[in-house]
Amino acid sequence: MTVNEIREKFLKYFEGKGHQVMSSSSLIPKDDPSVLLTTAGMQQFKDWFSGKVKPEHNRAATIQKCVRTGDIDEVGDETHLTFFEMLGNFSFGDYFKEEAIKWGYEFIASELGVSDERIHFTIFKGDKEVPRDNDSERIIKKIGSFKIEECDRADNFWGPTGTEGPCGPTVEIYVDGVEVWNLVFNEYYQEANKVLLPLETKGVDTGAGLERIAATLNRVESVFETDEFKEIVAFINGKMQKKDKKAERIIADHARTATFLIADGVRPSNLDKGYILRRVIRRIIRYARLTGITEQNICSEIAKIVIDIYKSNYPELEREQKHIIDELNLEEAKFVKVIEAGLKKFEHYEDNKEISGKEAFDLFATYGFPYELTVEMAKEKGIKIDQAGFEAEFEKHQEVSRKGVDKKFAGGLENKEDPKIIEYHTLAHLLLAALREVLGEHVHQKGANITAERLRFDFSHPEKMTDIEKQKVEEWVNDKLGRDLEVNLDETDPKTAKEKGAEGEFSSKYGDKVKVYTIGGNLDSTKFISKEICGGPHVGNLSEIKGRFRIKKEESSSAGVRRIKGVLE
Ligand code: GLY
Repeated sequence: MTVNEIREKFLKYFEGKGHQVMSSSSLIPKDDPSVLLTTAGMQQFKDWFSGKVKPEHNRAATIQKCVRTGDIDEVGDETHLTFFEMLGNFSFGDYFKEEAIKWGYEFIASELGVSDERIHFTIFKGDKEVPRDNDSERIIKKIGSFKIEECDRADNFWGPTGTEGPCGPTVEIYVDGVEVWNLVFNEYYQEANKVLLPLETKGVDTGAGLERIAATLNRVESVFETDEFKEIVAFINGKMQKKDKKAERIIADHARTATFLIADGVRPSNLDKGYILRRVIRRIIRYARLTGITEQNICSEIAKIVIDIYKSNYPELEREQKHIIDELNLEEAKFVKVIEAGLKKFEHYEDNKEISGKEAFDLFATYGFPYELTVEMAKEKGIKIDQAGFEAEFEKHQEVSRKGVDKKFAGGLENKEDPKIIEYHTLAHLLLAALREVLGEHVHQKGANITAERLRFDFSHPEKMTDIEKQKVEEWVNDKLGRDLEVNLDETDPKTAKEKGAEGEFSSKYGDKVKVYTIGGNLDSTKFISKEICGGPHVGNLSEIKGRFRIKKEESSSAGVRRIKGVLE
């Protein structure tokens, strides 16, 4: 069954069940500052679910364009994508669990022809706040004798998108062990402070990844082998000097994401949505270079294929074709210039047997040259790279910019610093303040390592943090993120900084002047959120940081020092 046949069958089936077929909304959410991009079909209906706006229909069905970048590092495997289409049927105070589950099953079984033994379900097992979903269990048992698994909040409770909104327990439908459909029973409204309030009218919000359904149904190895994707992948594969399945999948996925984002009006920049776009375009070029594709305008060449495949379902692609091509060519040219400067520098190292950590770091920090390209080119030329040395340089830089001693070096990086990295710099200050608040004043920073993807933060504390402590720290930080709180820079001498309550390593030597960054105040404030000696750079205001902070790991680093790995998602 082709992807388009699935699209048509889905809409026809739910139209037959009284649903209004509606268009996908833009990837740029309308009037919803709590999210950067559209990540789910329900987003255009948030106000209908919450009762803020009277629904125009009781039932709706859509195929929604979605972009999610939380798992960007997983792209390249069988199922992860940054752009995907989501099939969804919705009820606004109309039908509830009975019909939603019955129709979900019926569509998969009768319309898509999946036999019962390939299907199983999961339900929400209940916790302190939300009861076990006995109704769904009963409904599934009435349909047939399927395996039913019980899962917790992390798996079978969905939403809200952004900082607040409708959410509820879910039933998930699995085919061949792959989750293909998520049925959300919106019964609650989660406020920004995480309190769950019951919704006045209950609703249904379902989401099924089209590419995943197509792959499962056709029993192909990955979403990239479904009919529409296959064409994009084949085009990329034809251009590669060195065949690499993972790179080919990443390029194909990102090319779709970039094409659809530009069509909806996003432009490359260093901020928010624009930065997401810039990042996927740069990743396309990096992976293209890594696999020996050096031809000019490769991004727009792939975009043309994407436009051709999807324009019948998404006419905006054809309408915006010129913008898509122009923007991609422009952005590619800019990034290639960066890469070329790095390449020239690299030539200086070509006669060496080994590239030192310092040289590799210099390419990265001063020339903006991606480290993995250095690795790849060095491998090709039979030159070794001192990876440990590179990492050490990286850490040293973090340390230096933290202490604010070598302004020239830190300042030199400032303009080239990735905006995501800058957000993580500021996050590190919030995290230290949160740890001191939750664990006590004995906590001081012992080191940090920041990439565009995560923060690693070492701090003095004698024992393992409890789950409650970790949760409190996350909540403290998340309460501040996104708020209108200024981050102010003052310069002073170390002694004054200390007297004014700035955190810093006073045992180490500072110069005559240090930079002090204060969140929610300035050097002279007695009330503030954080005050630290640091070289920067930092965001100007916490409202610039859109994500939520999550602690992914807390572990021992060395005696009396703990390490947190955290992300902004
Ligand atoms: N809104 C349901 C989902 O995204 O899975």
